[in-house]
Amino acid sequence: MLLGITVVITDPTQAQCKVIWLVGIPCREVTATLVSQIKAWKNGDNCVNGGERCLYELQYYTPILIKALHTSRPTQGVEELTFTLYPSETASACRVVGLSVSENWSMLDDNGTNYCTLYNLLEGSGLTKAEGYKEYTNEWICLEHSTANCTVF
Ligand SMILES: *[C@@H]1O[C@H](CO)[C@@H](O)[C@H](O)[C@H]1NC(C)=O
Ligand SMILES: *[C@@H]1O[C@H](CO)[C@@H](O)[C@H](O)[C@H]1NC(C)=O
Ligand SMILES: *[C@@H]1O[C@H](CO)[C@@H](O)[C@H](O)[C@H]1NC(C)=O
Repeated sequence: MLLGITVVITDPTQAQCKVIWLVGIPCREVTATLVSQIKAWKNGDNCVNGGERCLYELQYYTPILIKALHTSRPTQGVEELTFTLYPSETASACRVVGLSVSENWSMLDDNGTNYCTLYNLLEGSGLTKAEGYKEYTNEWICLEHSTANCTVF
């Protein structure tokens, strides 16, 4: 148990990553920030100099849920992203649970792709610099998190 969230690995043969972030800003601002970042990185323009900060596709969102896809350029593998947002009691802070799962089952060695797919959106949109920013994850729930190089992936 971490912050009241039970972690369940549904399929250990599927590359995936789960991360919990805390930020000291209201969830509605976090949702707007993440959604606009996903839209801004829709086409390949942002990857002309490398990296994976492109080819995101917004599927749908509500004030507390965001669904998107990301295509990894080297492998053409697709990751399914889900962000679930939980307002704090005062609504001045937000807990964000990010989950990325590779559609391609056979890629267990993912080089941190699933972690970076989530993290790049937070970093690129400035949320990692938000007041009170904290990240919680580990190797059990987030594949190759500790060695991921998100400049590349
Ligand atoms: C899935 O991964 C395997 C092994 O890396 C690769 O050969 C295959 O082309 C991938 N399939 C898709 C749809 O990405
Ligand atoms: C991970 O990185 C290594 C070295 O760059 C590469 O050979 C391998 O194909 C990568 N794996 C995936 C799933 O991208
Ligand atoms: C990540 O990859 C970039 C580009 O290849 C490289 O310049 C940088 O040194 C790497 N960072 C780490 C921590 O390995």
